[in-house]
Amino acid sequence: MDATSTSARNKVRQLRHKLSRMMGKAHLRELNNNPDLSTGSATAARINELLKLNLGISYLEIGVAHGETLESVRAERRTGVDPSPVFALDRLPRGLSFHSVTSDQFFARLDQRVSFDAVLLDGLHAFTQTYRDLLNALKHLGPRGFILIDDTVPADAASAIPSQKEAVRVAIASNLPFPRPWMGDVYKVVQTLSIAHPDLEYYTYVGSGRHQTVVWRKLGHKPLDTESLLGESSSPMEFDQTWTQSLPEWFHAATDEQIQKAFEQFIAR
Ligand SMILES: C[S@@+](CC[C@H](N)C(=O)[O-])C[C@H]1O[C@@H](n2cnc3c(N)ncnc32)[C@H](O)[C@@H]1O
Repeated sequence: MDATSTSARNKVRQLRHKLSRMMGKAHLRELNNNPDLSTGSATAARINELLKLNLGISYLEIGVAHGETLESVRAERRTGVDPSPVFALDRLPRGLSFHSVTSDQFFARLDQRVSFDAVLLDGLHAFTQTYRDLLNALKHLGPRGFILIDDTVPADAASAIPSQKEAVRVAIASNLPFPRPWMGDVYKVVQTLSIAHPDLEYYTYVGSGRHQTVVWRKLGHKPLDTESLLGESSSPMEFDQTWTQSLPEWFHAATDEQIQKAFEQFIAR
């Protein structure tokens, strides 16, 4: 679906919500004012743990959907970006701003002085888009900030296909069970980190919970020229070349506890 029809669909959804609320029955859910009373999400729990360590106050979420993570993150200033949000936009919690646009449109308009202490990248699960989101987010990352990238480890070859439609087609043709996850080729971002980013420290959460990769800037490293990187690193390995029996070493697999410890050391330096 193109950006214009997404935006039109979003406007209709929000208008239906306003009309149905006037008739006493809200069509979309409203985000909870208090993160501690919200629905919660495992992703928000991870982000909150790291925010406790860097004492961060500002949070950016790319790809928000129903808002379960956005409403559960504890930060004074929260910013959400999604061209197709599935919650009410007319009554947002205090300190929370929302942009119904794509991440590219958001970053193109963002004042260069704005910075974030925590960022979640959970928008379009395609390598080039997520890598572009990462490079843009790095330009706005505070000195003690971190970026969490969702769904960096595909469940199998079909779930790693960058087009969701094609992933479903292949899964049906191969008799794979449904419902099934779709991660796209976001894993290539991690591979690119290992090849082209000596300036960044990163770890991939394994064990319990979702597979996500967290990134922060190594101390003493000047930011790389990110514009030129996008062109250079656009051909990482395909799934079949990458996976053997276990997670490749370049994922830097670690448990939640190990990652918290590493981040604590980064903050303490
Ligand atoms: C997996 S959902 C996000 C879930 C959410 N972060 C959470 O934790 O509950 C992915 C969302 O990304 C949004 N999306 C797709 N393309 C995008 C883009 N180019 N920029 C920003 N968001 C995008 C979709 O509309 C969808 O709502």
